Amino acid sequence: MILDRCDIPIVGAPLAGGPSTPELAAAVCDAGGLGFLAAGYLSAPELERRRRRTEQITSRPFGVNLFCPGPAGDASRVREYAAVIEKDAHAAGAALGAPRHDDDDWDAKVEYLLAHPVPVVSFTFGIPGPEVIGDLRAAGCETWVTVTTLAEARRAAEAGADLLVAQGYEAGGHRGGVSDSAHDAVGLIALLQLITARLPTPVAACGGIATGAAIAAVLCLGARAAALGTAFLDCPEAGTAAVHRARLHAAPPEEAPPTRLTRAFSGRTARGIENGFLLAHSAGAPAAYPEVHHLTTPMRKAAREAGLADYVNLWAGQAYPLTGARPAGDVVRELWAQARAVLGQSSARHA
Ligand SMILES: Cc1cc2nc3c(=O)[nH]c(=O)nc-3n(C[C@H](O)[C@H](O)[C@H](O)COP(=O)(O)O)c2cc1C
Repeated sequence: MILDRCDIPIVGAPLAGGPSTPELAAAVCDAGGLGFLAAGYLSAPELERRRRRTEQITSRPFGVNLFCPGPAGDASRVREYAAVIEKDAHAAGAALGAPRHDDDDWDAKVEYLLAHPVPVVSFTFGIPGPEVIGDLRAAGCETWVTVTTLAEARRAAEAGADLLVAQGYEAGGHRGGVSDSAHDAVGLIALLQLITARLPTPVAACGGIATGAAIAAVLCLGARAAALGTAFLDCPEAGTAAVHRARLHAAPPEEAPPTRLTRAFSGRTARGIENGFLLAHSAGAPAAYPEVHHLTTPMRKAAREAGLADYVNLWAGQAYPLTGARPAGDVVRELWAQARAVLGQSSARHA
């Protein structure tokens, strides 16, 4: 397994939409962890450019993450939603985008990776067919699949995944499994226990991990690695927008606004820090990804540029108030030192 070649069992989780950069992935890898390039929203040529750039700045192995395509949403519900949020787009200084359905250039990216393999390809938003997993394995790629329930974990294992990325309810960004419901979401501790009790496939854990103690906890629960997303959002190597960074630390942890699951920005359930748009539209937003994503893209872009935090998708996990602004290599090294200390203290206390 690729994780056996890493000195530190910490994964820099893929962060599409800006934060994920070659520099962030390389910094995580160079510190001894495993960095990922998020290829969601990218064309195949742009994936190739970023992959080449990453290879120029690190000699360590890294992974690439793809979005699995899903079904189209209900076009009439998307039209109704567009009429509701049009005024928000205008308030942010933009028009609504065209709400098209697409497959995120899936075939071209899979073909590119088959021709130019990377050590690990991870998948989110679905479970690729056994042929895709088999072809990638034959090309030399390990395959990881994000799962959010035990049922998804079993399906991914049966499809041939080498590792399951167990994503707990706490996680920032989109729910990464097949399910787009908020109702079957499982907390990370429960999810890890359910999966490791029933399946032999190796697991990495993610969702709300922001301290060495949490890394120690998931390793004790049987995870091969802890994958952290929000903890890297404010690293200087990340491409996170300034308005997003600012909201991560806008208040002391005791007063920080909560996060919530919402479809308001993209049409797919995701966790972000509460803001005006999220509170106004979570109840009415349809399940229609990526149609709603495309609808709100110009609004979010204009709002990011103007610093209007109320119209930006402020993706963050539940433990976001504990994250800080420091180099990614320091995050990896410091959290691992803390985790090791916690593991030592705990075994000494309970021996
Ligand atoms: C801004 C942002 C973008 C994300 N983009 C992706 C992505 O492209 N692919 C993916 O599999 N997961 C994505 N996620 C989810 C993370 O990979 C990971 O599951 C999550 O961040 C873990 O929870 P944490 O944020 O509490 O650490 C994203 C999360 C955030 C916060």
